[in-house]
Amino acid sequence: MASSSLDSSWCQSELATEVVGHRICYYPRIDSTNEQALRLADADEAEGTVVVADTQTAGRGRRGRRWQDEPGQALLFSVLLRPACDVCWLPVLSLGAAAACAESLTSGYSIPVVTKWPNDLLIAGRKVGGILLEQRAEAVAVGIGLNVNGRPEALEARVGAPLTTLESHYRATLSREEVLVGILEKIDDIYQQFHSGGPAEVVRRYRRFESVLGQSVHVSVGQEVVRGTAMAVTDTGALVVDTAEGRREITAGEVELVAGS
Ligand code: BTN
Repeated sequence: MASSSLDSSWCQSELATEVVGHRICYYPRIDSTNEQALRLADADEAEGTVVVADTQTAGRGRRGRRWQDEPGQALLFSVLLRPACDVCWLPVLSLGAAAACAESLTSGYSIPVVTKWPNDLLIAGRKVGGILLEQRAEAVAVGIGLNVNGRPEALEARVGAPLTTLESHYRATLSREEVLVGILEKIDDIYQQFHSGGPAEVVRRYRRFESVLGQSVHVSVGQEVVRGTAMAVTDTGALVVDTAEGRREITAGEVELVAGS
């Protein structure tokens, strides 16, 4: 499918937000929108700037992985924030970004997007997007990659993991601009709530979409694998797992669902 260029001026004109997206910097091609957002932060860019690209040459995923895209088909963007909070609350911002995507896509398009703690976006068990929050000094880049249009097969073959796209479930091509505006408005709203209501309010919004609760999981935490049943997400954003040795609260890790649970 031919790739298209994202119309960032349209997004800018449609956005109704307090902070997020007061400026949108669009690039047809860039190394990584997270890296670019952090470079802009180094040059004193204001909070709320959004960096969006049609393709990335060095897109970054969690745990040092590459994030691959089909040029012009995905949404690849980063929101520059300066949250001025203790570093321990940053994972909640990342849960907030996941909640923003899930809220926007379920309410705006009736696509059944759920989260897999902490940062995966899934449809019917297949990954449709992910979030990577990176910090440099007092600046934070909240990076979101979302497979919007196209058939997942080519990307799946390249990545070597089960993936999906929004289009496969919506059964029509989506406007990346409309999807972007919807998500940015939700991020803006959740970010205001982070400051006014506190992190627990953000986690409350996130929990509605969490798909791993009640499931048998293996959670990789550094070199360790924690095995048990995912029970809850705490007000601080940690995953509670019941293991044979007792209850564990995990603040960072990668969850694998155990088949047949
Ligand atoms: C994950 O591994 O699931 C997180 C992937 C995050 C990818 C996005 S794409 C936009 C932004 N820029 C990057 O380099 N990474 C994030």
